[in-house]
Amino acid sequence: MTNLIDGRAFARQVHTETASRIGDLARRGVQPGLLFIRVGEDPASQVYVGMKEKKAAELGIHSETLVLPQSTSEQSLLELIKAANHDSRWHGILVQAPLPRGIDAARVFSQVDPRKDVDGFHPLNAGRLLLGETDGFTPCTPAGVQELLVRSGTPTEGAEVVILGRGNIVGKPLASLLMQRGTRANGTVTIVHSASRDIESHCRRADILVAAMGAPEFVRGSMVKPGAVVIDVGVNRVSDSMTGISRLVGDVAFAEVQPIAGKITPNPGGVGPMTIAMLMANTVKAAELLSA
Ligand code: GUN
Repeated sequence: MTNLIDGRAFARQVHTETASRIGDLARRGVQPGLLFIRVGEDPASQVYVGMKEKKAAELGIHSETLVLPQSTSEQSLLELIKAANHDSRWHGILVQAPLPRGIDAARVFSQVDPRKDVDGFHPLNAGRLLLGETDGFTPCTPAGVQELLVRSGTPTEGAEVVILGRGNIVGKPLASLLMQRGTRANGTVTIVHSASRDIESHCRRADILVAAMGAPEFVRGSMVKPGAVVIDVGVNRVSDSMTGISRLVGDVAFAEVQPIAGKITPNPGGVGPMTIAMLMANTVKAAELLSA
């Protein structure tokens, strides 16, 4: 029996549910619209936005991508966002990170209309998540991790959840989500970060271990309690010192950890597909709320 958490299969379930909501909107004459804004030529961002566009098209979400040069000023980016905020074609606006040096990403995210903030990066939505309100937008990767846990039958109630990484995109919002009251959460959450002491002993306590710190193959077999559920959010490009050939690896040393874990996400094919599924679901939620 495999212990893999099949992110592609669970994402397909979410897409089926999202497609049915898109059908309901179509009957009311509403087509969800999602605007992507990509600044510069970061190769990973090109791939990610391409995958999101493709899935939007498959589901019948109208999308466009504005590609801006690396030299774009913060001011002109903010003006484009302002125009998109007022454009009724767009229910969702996504500014792909990372942004070029010299652009204040926090300021940019805070200028997206919170009702169109399908990334869940606006301070209002971050605050709503922390307060346990459900009418805001939850960032897609943490929402996807929660969905993977729920759909794979992993109990979170009372579970020791250890999250490696305290970033604004994954670690912090995932902690907010899994510590809330409710059957999909109710975890006892610890965030471990670069200044934490004895990281290994924190990890070994975890019933659910989430690696989201962006360190290639950081989580080794010795750091995992037998039977723990391991979720690998990391995407790291490493190059082989002998051949110079580069490849993508997660934050988990998969071959070592898989035999110890109760369940584990493959990487790729775990968190990534579910992140895209949550973006589509957030876009449909925005369209439903804006057209209500
Ligand atoms: N860069 C890495 N992850 C994300 C994400 O979830 N949203 C956006 N906009 N940029 C990212």
